[in-house]
Amino acid sequence: MHFPRGIVLFPSKRRLVRGKKPDYLDFVNNKKTFKITFKPQNKTVEVPNSSSGFGGVGEKGSILDVAIGLAKIDIEHSCGGVAACSTCHVVVEEGLETCNEPSDQELDQLDNAPDNTLKSRLSCQCIPSGEKDIVVRIPDWNRNLVKEKV
Ligand code: FES
Repeated sequence: MHFPRGIVLFPSKRRLVRGKKPDYLDFVNNKKTFKITFKPQNKTVEVPNSSSGFGGVGEKGSILDVAIGLAKIDIEHSCGGVAACSTCHVVVEEGLETCNEPSDQELDQLDNAPDNTLKSRLSCQCIPSGEKDIVVRIPDWNRNLVKEKV
């Protein structure tokens, strides 16, 4: 078989290098602005693209980082956001598919969380990509009612 000069056998790989940046790189780089709604407060915050986090706790760009740093919602976080407890447990009701995969350590901790569901995550470890708005429910037992009344 004869290939004309200049034709490459793997055009899709060539496009990755020389063409327009594919969407999945945008996904990886978290270039999009999106919203997180926290329930039951029904507070929605716009999350800008940031590689440096939001001044909260946990992994940069995590739900806990956004909750404390941007939304000013206090979610319990006994271990300081290092996946060593389960007090920051939340349920990602919408948009879970756009979040990073949980690590084995996170899954082990979630096994100890009360009311663990298929949509449960440790908010200090769960990082949304920004592909879609997400909705997070903070379980009753996890809310610091004293601080919320202040
Ligand atoms: Fe301890 Fe998230 S704060 S696991």
